[in-house]
Amino acid sequence: MSTRLTIVLLLFTICSFAQKREELVVSADKSIAEISPSMWGIFFEDINFAADGGLYAELIKNRSFEFANPLMGWSTEGKGKLLVINDGLRNPKNARYISIEPDNATFSLTNEGFRGIGLHENGTYKLSLRGKLVSDTQPKIVVQLLDTTNKIISERELTGLKPEWDTYSIVFKSSKTIQKAKFRLVFSGTGLVNLDMISLFPTDTWKGRPNGLRKDLVQKLADLKPGFVRFPGGCIVEGRDLANRYQWKETVGNPFDRKVMINRWNTEFDYRPAPDYFQTFGLGFYEYFQLAEDIGAKALPILNCGMACQFNTAELVANTELDPYIQDAVDLIEFANGDTTTKWGNLRAKMGHPKPFNLDRLGVGNEQWGPQYIEKYKLFEAVLKAKYPNVKLIGAAGPFAGGELFNFAWDKFKLTNVDFIDEHYYMAPDWFLKNAGRYDNYDRKGPRIFAGEFAAHDKEGKAPESRNTWFSALTEAAFMTGLERNADLVQMSSYAPLLAHVEAWQWRPDLIWFDNLSSVATPNYWVQKMYSNFKGTNVVSILKAGKTIIGKDSLYANAVEDKVKKQLIVKLVNTSAVSKEYDLVISGAKGISKKAVTYTLQSDVLSTMNSLQNPDNVIPKTSSIDVKNGKANVKMPKFSFIVIVVSKK
Ligand code: AHR
Repeated sequence: MSTRLTIVLLLFTICSFAQKREELVVSADKSIAEISPSMWGIFFEDINFAADGGLYAELIKNRSFEFANPLMGWSTEGKGKLLVINDGLRNPKNARYISIEPDNATFSLTNEGFRGIGLHENGTYKLSLRGKLVSDTQPKIVVQLLDTTNKIISERELTGLKPEWDTYSIVFKSSKTIQKAKFRLVFSGTGLVNLDMISLFPTDTWKGRPNGLRKDLVQKLADLKPGFVRFPGGCIVEGRDLANRYQWKETVGNPFDRKVMINRWNTEFDYRPAPDYFQTFGLGFYEYFQLAEDIGAKALPILNCGMACQFNTAELVANTELDPYIQDAVDLIEFANGDTTTKWGNLRAKMGHPKPFNLDRLGVGNEQWGPQYIEKYKLFEAVLKAKYPNVKLIGAAGPFAGGELFNFAWDKFKLTNVDFIDEHYYMAPDWFLKNAGRYDNYDRKGPRIFAGEFAAHDKEGKAPESRNTWFSALTEAAFMTGLERNADLVQMSSYAPLLAHVEAWQWRPDLIWFDNLSSVATPNYWVQKMYSNFKGTNVVSILKAGKTIIGKDSLYANAVEDKVKKQLIVKLVNTSAVSKEYDLVISGAKGISKKAVTYTLQSDVLSTMNSLQNPDNVIPKTSSIDVKNGKANVKMPKFSFIVIVVSKK
């Protein structure tokens, strides 16, 4: 061989070697596992003012004067008498009302709302209140919306109060957008009236429902296309003590008859006190079922199992006294699914939903642990499995991702008929990276997994130090490749918590942040959305050098097929600080498209967050790449999460 030819060949070899990229090989024809349609869901808990002051669109704080301090949220001005009357005979669930008598002068009562009242320009707002005229003549009553400087935005007169309790309503229009408006009742002249349930709702709630939910927030939830909605929590299910546990029966029926209770997050963290945090239960179990149905998700209620929070009082009911708790579970299934001739099915019908909600899963206890929990679970299971064998039961592995309590729960649960184990991990981002293979070798013979609460907490220590950074979201994306790969085992998953008011939160990070007018999706939200919106129906294999892709060279990957949409979907996560380039090789798929659509979440700076002011710092960017002979060149910027969607026949 001539020297010249040798050099040419050598150069050719060097060039082709340099161009040889690592291959990510997808075997599209082999389904490894089916993906549960309810795989990616949402976890709702009334923490961070997620319900009252958040999703529940009521704008008046302490509308029925049932907070511990009956006038919390209200202030008075001028000359007049105000009494708080406690009349349990009138309504034991809503005993208090106020009695007002202006002293032939102007006397006003102002409500501050939940960190203010959010009003939208041209928005209409419906005031409703219960009133009773006690004197012969009615004092003049003017109702007003005020801006931050107490300037009147809109006012109307309330006339015609009758001598017996009745409900009155007035619709206002706001001429301005105001973040922190106030609501005021102005009394003048003479006369005595009793008032209660002073409530103000936007008329433009989700689906325009009275007693409804905030539209922008529900829309964000709907956009996730969640497979399930877990409610009502979380630790709120447990209560700090048993008296303050969540009892679903207290949250259904007429909102006026739902007994207000302190919210356990009111006093939980001394570094984030929330003395005005109570639960009106205006957003109660009926509304939760309705919400799940509206957004095409399964309802997943978690019930108290006779144990209060073990981090607080750890109060336990004696097993001999557990029957009412078990009965609550039995009755809940009747409420959700029962015929309208049944007691609880009839209540559901009266509330507006004669058709069943088709409840098919239920959690017994939240973050419980120890032998007492297992004993209690077994008592629930014996009754529920006998009466409703088709309702799947969820037990909990406790508050930690591993360790003694966790192992104890797993060992014991394997001896029961529990269907799912609810595992929680609030861990450092690094843990999420190291645990992307957590389920690869899990025992397949036992119960299925419900990854019921998780979030990467960027800084160790107290939760509030953690933020919704791109780093936290990126590590969650990497971890979730492992959840998805193991979809035969992990059949439900939800980030937690879901919602947080920017001024009234107790815990962070959270998936969606909001103020009184708008909301922002975090990078973590977009990760959840990209998984949920591209969940597929079957897991297929994706390998690099014949191996599962779980972190070698900072790459994480999984692939799924969507048999219904006829798509092949590849999820790739590059956690390194350098860009990467791979050849994606698709084998076993017929008629694949020449272009693949890509959705990329990325930021060069790991500490990047989205905010109400800058909501688009980290959002998915859509693009496309060529696919030729089943091969596509994929360029991954540093710190990126990419979903690649290839259409096929
Ligand atoms: O999501 C916040 C809390 O974290 C939940 O209430 C509880 O279950 C967990 O400890």
